[in-house]
Amino acid sequence: MNKRVRKAVFPVAGLGTRSLPATKAIPKEMLTVVDKPLIQYGVEEALEAGIEDIIFVTGRGKSSLEDHFDHAYELEDTLEAKGKKAELEAVRQVLLEPGRVSYVRQQRPLGLGHAVWCARAFVGDEPFAVLLPDDLMLGQPGALKQMMQVYDKVGGNIVAVEDVPRELTNRYGILDVVSDDGKLARAKGLVEKPAPDVAPSTLSIIGRYILQPEVFTELAKHERGAGGEIQLTDAMAKTIDRVAFHGFRFDGRRFDCGNKLGFIEANIAYALARDDLRDGMNRILKQFA
Ligand code: UTP
Repeated sequence: MNKRVRKAVFPVAGLGTRSLPATKAIPKEMLTVVDKPLIQYGVEEALEAGIEDIIFVTGRGKSSLEDHFDHAYELEDTLEAKGKKAELEAVRQVLLEPGRVSYVRQQRPLGLGHAVWCARAFVGDEPFAVLLPDDLMLGQPGALKQMMQVYDKVGGNIVAVEDVPRELTNRYGILDVVSDDGKLARAKGLVEKPAPDVAPSTLSIIGRYILQPEVFTELAKHERGAGGEIQLTDAMAKTIDRVAFHGFRFDGRRFDCGNKLGFIEANIAYALARDDLRDGMNRILKQFA
């Protein structure tokens, strides 16, 4: 029986330079797709998957993230006084159970691996999930829940993966695959951002992980990798002979909201997925066809 995954880490301390100027004063994770900030989609996906405790690894200028999951008394009072029930419900729905959400600061954005390492005391000695909120996953059930179902069978480390065109391997962590049944691929190695001609495959890691605590031993070494950053991929790669590693192609679509076109595409796809917005969205799209 694999130990249950109860905790989720949301690294949200990055600078979001690819989304500037939008992210000058607003965290990237607070950018809105249709009517919800990216972070809310991620948190809802985690809760759906059975996650009980959440930690945000934040940085300077990210306080709106904390406020989003807290009470907004003036706003709630006003909505209540005006009888705006649906709006009040939408605002209150975002509240997380007291004591179930924590915040830790990554004082300098030294890389994703470093951000995850900042959550080590919160995670302790148990498996945990990592969700990168700028990767938006449209799926039913959500991507993390699908991964949990696989985790129950195979255990170890599991990451969400996607096939990418070979010319794009230098943007992703890439799996060195031993076996692949088209859904689940077992890896014997990982390479962060390999050049297309040396990439061991085109199977790339996207922003959902289920990890065993062994990864912290490697992250604690603070070794710099691609781009001079402390890379999560490198730390996972170093545990691969001790901890089984699988890449899982989830059922659904992933939108990279960390780049501008991906973010626009997500807005269109999420509007089309909504019963209340689909017709209006289709009418708008026809004008641009
Ligand atoms: P990205 O590399 O996409 O985010 O990291 P970024 O650095 O904010 O964006 P760009 O490339 O400059 O546009 C993926 C996730 O990891 C977090 C980010 O906040 C994002 O949610 N992250 C990244 C950290 O928390 N700390 C870091 O040092 C780096």
